[in-house]
Amino acid sequence: METMHQLGRYEIVAELGRGAMGAVFRARDPKIDRTVAIKTIAIPASSKHDAEHYRQRFFREAQAAGRLSHPGIVTIYDVGEDEATHTPFIVMECVEGDSLDRTVAATSTGKLPLEIALRLLRQIAEALDYAHRQNIVHRDIKPANIMVTTEGQPKIADFGIARVAMAETTLPGHVVGTPAYMSPEQLNGKAVDGRSDLFSLGVIAYWLLTGVKPFDGDTLTEICVQVVTKDPAPPSEIAPGLTIDVDYVLSRALAKDPAMRYQSGSELAADLDDLSAGKKPRSVVQSAKTQVVPQIGMMVSQRNSEAGVAAARIAQAAGEKGGRGRRALLIYLTVAVILLLAGAGFLALNFNRSNPATLQIIGQYPFQSGEIYIWVDGDLRYHDELRTIARSGVKSSRNSTANESLGITLPVTAGRHTVRIQVDAEGKIYDHDTAIPGYFRAYSQKTLTVDFASRNLALRWD
Ligand SMILES: Nc1ncnc2c1ncn2[C@@H]1O[C@H](COP(=O)(O)OP(=O)(O)O)[C@@H](O)[C@H]1O
Ligand SMILES: [Mg+2]
Repeated sequence: METMHQLGRYEIVAELGRGAMGAVFRARDPKIDRTVAIKTIAIPASSKHDAEHYRQRFFREAQAAGRLSHPGIVTIYDVGEDEATHTPFIVMECVEGDSLDRTVAATSTGKLPLEIALRLLRQIAEALDYAHRQNIVHRDIKPANIMVTTEGQPKIADFGIARVAMAETTLPGHVVGTPAYMSPEQLNGKAVDGRSDLFSLGVIAYWLLTGVKPFDGDTLTEICVQVVTKDPAPPSEIAPGLTIDVDYVLSRALAKDPAMRYQSGSELAADLDDLSAGKKPRSVVQSAKTQVVPQIGMMVSQRNSEAGVAAARIAQAAGEKGGRGRRALLIYLTVAVILLLAGAGFLALNFNRSNPATLQIIGQYPFQSGEIYIWVDGDLRYHDELRTIARSGVKSSRNSTANESLGITLPVTAGRHTVRIQVDAEGKIYDHDTAIPGYFRAYSQKTLTVDFASRNLALRWD
């Protein structure tokens, strides 16, 4: 390729890097004597016949992204087209600094100090919130697309560009980027919104805080299957010094179902802010009382088929790229077998998922009236009257020896918890505490049965 000196009115100074879509140059805008970065966008060879459509789409997206003005987003100044080759290019703010992946790689420990990592994540979440409020979704949030200035300000690059690139993924010959940061819905080719970017930020957060990628594997197919099905280990089990509050925030950011995730960047930013201050994330405190929990069977089969669709898409892309449909089929069959084997595991893992983990307290009590108090980790979380009169006001016809049923659902964070239950009834106080056995996995449910069979309060875990 010839060395380029000029793109439109911009004078090329040096090449800054190369990505899947083209090259990035440092350039000078002589009109206002300012340094800019210029990204050229290669039109995929496969879509040459569609080049006009592709160009129009590119300019439309760049125009939308060009409206964004935020300290956490790389500003787009201009778009243009090379006169000779008609290669579209995008002119943007030139960031003095390095991408997040290289920033981390440059540290001696391969990890950023916790408070710095949390601050960067919060600033990115705020920038995403800003873009999402203008209905602009990034779709390719990954460490290589986060520039960190020499002053330590993160700036999201490539807004609007991924959308054009991703639209081409169905065309043969297009290389699919790493699925490691993509949301399950994106891998499945479903509609995505801002919550998909928040999932991607969750993947970055997990990697930044633990030093481990939550979804990793040797093949695109394997990574893809993990994104759709795997629950990563609680961060606190990987990196000492991380609290169960970090587990909570990350499990919520990485929820497979967008409805279970943070719904906005500002919500995530607020929780990250609380983590920085060493406080309980405010969304735990405000957490809704009860959630509608889908049927187990449906959940499992739905997830299996979603992983299948995602894997098939990746396999298809891989096959088309190499022109070897047979290999693609083989990959797909392997995935199908893995999924069948994993099915049994999902039953245990995904049992009654809720947000983020659910403590269910059931049982029966033989009292006419009384009161029940429930503490989790020493905090009073529930207090209600034990009633023998139905809420409709109609007196129940049962006799005094029959039992009333108890059914209380409390959201808790992932981790380990103690539960204390006190029942004041008929002039007596029953008090009992218990530790939840084992680790409370995110989106799992544990059931505590309250038993008065011996006319004494007994607690039993199921
Ligand atoms: N606005 C910018 N300012 C300075 N450098 C940039 C800018 N945008 C991109 N770069 C550099 O160019 C490299 C290539 O970018 P890109 O083509 O988007 O590929 P990728 O995002 O996959 O790394 C980046 O890794 C980054 O170092
Ligand atoms: Mg990029």
